[in-house]
Amino acid sequence: MFLKNSKIYIAGHRGMVGSAVCDALLENGYNNLVLKSSQELDLRNQSSVGQFFQDEQPEVVIDAAARVGGILANSDFPYNFLMENLQIQNNLIDSSLKTDVKKFIFLGSSCIYPKHAKQPLKEEYLLTDSLEPTNEWYAIAKIAGVKACQAVRNQFNKDFVSLMPTNLYGERDNFDLNSSHVLPAMIRKFHDAKENNDSPVTLWGSGTPMREFLHVEDLANAVLFTLENQLPEYLYNVGTGVDMTIKQLAEKIQNIVGHKGEIVWDESKPNGTPRKLMDVSKLHRLGWHHNINLDEGICKTYSWFLDNIDSLKEVKLN
Ligand SMILES: NC(=O)c1ccc[n+]([C@@H]2O[C@H](COP(=O)([O-])OP(=O)(O)OC[C@H]3O[C@@H](n4cnc5c(N)ncnc54)[C@H](OP(=O)(O)O)[C@@H]3O)[C@@H](O)[C@H]2O)c1
Repeated sequence: MFLKNSKIYIAGHRGMVGSAVCDALLENGYNNLVLKSSQELDLRNQSSVGQFFQDEQPEVVIDAAARVGGILANSDFPYNFLMENLQIQNNLIDSSLKTDVKKFIFLGSSCIYPKHAKQPLKEEYLLTDSLEPTNEWYAIAKIAGVKACQAVRNQFNKDFVSLMPTNLYGERDNFDLNSSHVLPAMIRKFHDAKENNDSPVTLWGSGTPMREFLHVEDLANAVLFTLENQLPEYLYNVGTGVDMTIKQLAEKIQNIVGHKGEIVWDESKPNGTPRKLMDVSKLHRLGWHHNINLDEGICKTYSWFLDNIDSLKEVKLN
C-alpha cells in the first residue's frame, strides 16, 4: 500500500519503542524516515509541530512519543502525565489531519482498560468502568488519543488506528529505578545485588498481581504489520495473550541474571491493577503473532543491559 520510499515520520524515534520501530522499518526497506529528537522538535509546542508538518508533509505518522513511566512517576507527576501526553498526541493528530497524512498509528497502553475489567481484556471493554488510580492520568490521556483517532476515522474516513501494547521490555529500556517499569527494574535490582555478594533484593508489592510481557521487537513487527495492511477497526490489543505472577517473573529474572540471594516483598508499596491480560485474538485473526518468548526476550535484554551498562539512559523525574 505504501512504497518503500514513502515519507514516514516516527515521533519518539529515540525511545525504546520508537527505536525498535525505526529498526524494523529500515530492515524492511523503508528508507525515507523523518526523525526528530525532542530537543529538535518539542511535540508539546503546537505551532512548532504545525510548521514541521507543513514543511515535511509525511505520508505516514507513527506516534511513539510520550511521557512514560512507572507507578511512582505517575503518582508523583499526575499533571505532567496527563497534560504532556495530551499535548503531544493532540498536536500530532491534528497536524496529521490538516496536512492529509494517509495513515496515523497511535500507540497507547493496556492501562486504558478498567481496573476490574473481565480478563482477558477485549477492546470493547474500553470505558466500561473506572481506571486503576495509580496511572489514571496517563490512561486518560491515552484514551483521549484513541478516541481522537476513532473520531478522525468516523468523520473523515481516514486510516487512523490505535495499537494498545501490553507491558513492553527490551533493548534501550529505562533501567532507572525511580522511573522504570517492573521488568527492567527487576533486571537492574538482581544484577546490582549479584554484584554486591548476592545481597537480598527488595521488590514492590506482594508479588501476586499478574502481568503479560511483550518484547519490543514484536511490537515493532505489529506496527510494520499495521503499516502494510489496512486494518478494519479503530483499536487493537498487542500482546502475547499469556501472563504470570510478578513473583514468577522475579524468579525467572533472578535465575537468568544468576542472583543467589533472598527476595523480600515490600507490601507497603502499591501492587497496581490485579491482572491485565490482553485478548489479542483480533490481531491474531488478521495475521499478526508474536515471535519472541519471554525467556529468550529476557536473556536478550539482560545481555544488552550488560553491554551497555556504562551508558544506560537515566530518566529523571521532573
Ligand atoms: N514501555 C512500555 O512498557 C510500553 C507499554 C505499552 C505502551 N507503550 C507506549 O509506547 C510509546 C513509547 O514508549 P517508550 O517505552 O518507547 O518510551 P520512551 O523510551 O520513554 O520514549 C519516549 C519518546 O518520546 C519522546 N518524547 C517525550 N516527550 C517529548 C516531547 N515533548 N517532544 C518530543 N518527543 C518527546 C522522547 O524523545 P527524546 O528521546 O528525543 O527526548 C522519547 O524518545 C508510548 O506511547 C507508550 O505509551 C510503552
